[in-house]
Amino acid sequence: VATAAFQIEGAAREGGRGESIWDRFCAQPGRIVDASSGEIACDHYHRMPDDVALMARMGVKNYRFSIAWPRVQPDGHGPWNEAGFAFYERLLDALQAHGIAAHLTLNHWDLPQSLQDQGGWTSRETCGHFVRYAQEVARRFGHRLASLVTHNEPWVIAILGHEQGIFAPGVKARSKAFQVSHHPLLSHGMAVKALRQSHPQLSLGIVLNLSPIYPASASQADLDKARLDDGYIVRWYMDPLFKGQYPADVLEDLGSDAPLVAEEDLAIISQPIDFVGVNYYTRNFSSSGNPWDVRANAQRVTDMGWEVYPPGLTELLVRLHRDYRPQALLVTENGSAFVDQLQDGLVHDPERLDYLREHIEACRTAVLQGVPLKGYFAWSLLDNFEWASGYSKRFGLVYVDYKTQARIVKSSGHWYSNFLMGR
Ligand code: FCB
Repeated sequence: VATAAFQIEGAAREGGRGESIWDRFCAQPGRIVDASSGEIACDHYHRMPDDVALMARMGVKNYRFSIAWPRVQPDGHGPWNEAGFAFYERLLDALQAHGIAAHLTLNHWDLPQSLQDQGGWTSRETCGHFVRYAQEVARRFGHRLASLVTHNEPWVIAILGHEQGIFAPGVKARSKAFQVSHHPLLSHGMAVKALRQSHPQLSLGIVLNLSPIYPASASQADLDKARLDDGYIVRWYMDPLFKGQYPADVLEDLGSDAPLVAEEDLAIISQPIDFVGVNYYTRNFSSSGNPWDVRANAQRVTDMGWEVYPPGLTELLVRLHRDYRPQALLVTENGSAFVDQLQDGLVHDPERLDYLREHIEACRTAVLQGVPLKGYFAWSLLDNFEWASGYSKRFGLVYVDYKTQARIVKSSGHWYSNFLMGR
């Protein structure tokens, strides 16, 4: 199962944690649908031992979580916060005690606000700060990790955070968005280079949201648009990582919005990595007239309005293997939001159960076709703070009653648990 720090931890002002861009963003009126924040979230900071025990009871053997950078380094470049590191140390102890492997993500979007004040991901300096943070985390915890991920979904940081402005830091400037997309990639490469030296055994990767794009019709205009949209979401990240170049068609389309890229950058970004983490939720359609139009074609949609399309996961994995030959692929997130009802202490969620089962089958199909798929993480262990949707969307295998913080395993969670235990 997978989670992310800002979405579950809460304790936003405790234990010396610094402010993150998501704390600042939530405090701005109108940013979050239900005007909520990550202040309390699932209170995981205090309930961590119980949450880990729950995972163990469910038969979970691999846990993907993230470190809140401002919890361990409040301003992103100054002193380390020992109380923050102590929390993650306790988490690793608990996981180890239950025989659960730890998969750590360094950046799941919650950049320290004070780095944002100095330009955040628009600034090349942030890359150096990120590498020092990565090195410190590896120095303390490297020997205890099954894998380490640099960044989660740089597309989201760049496009939702800096072009559309619907996620933190809420900037709406295409001229900045692609510079921003470059710096997480660059800092990924820099961090991988440094960690290979210090921790040659550590399995290193990056997590990307690679929604496959389908043309809305067979018209040439739609095919061209789909090809370009695929460039923006898949090739813009995979090409520099695996081919050491940005895709020419996207660069041309960007024109003066293309990022400044120093001569050595692409060689740094394309350091060999051990795996690519794929977050898959849905597919998208492209049309020259009405881009990103999913709903018109969809038979089944989730509460996010995302089409349920399991074959897209197989097709995506097969394509990534064919075009890029990564050493290994992991599905680092996959899941669905549906409206859940707590009734007589039970949550019956057949749609989420079907979603899960069908996507795991889609993984199996990919494996049978020769894809080196080495793992699968369900998003998410718990219902949690779903970014701009606040607490209005529930993705958990475990229902969270936010009034009492009670955890109730949903029927999908019971199914998954049986699956994990081979029943
Ligand atoms: C992904 C995020 C994750 C979660 C899911 C629904 O983009 O990585 O934190 O919010 O979407």
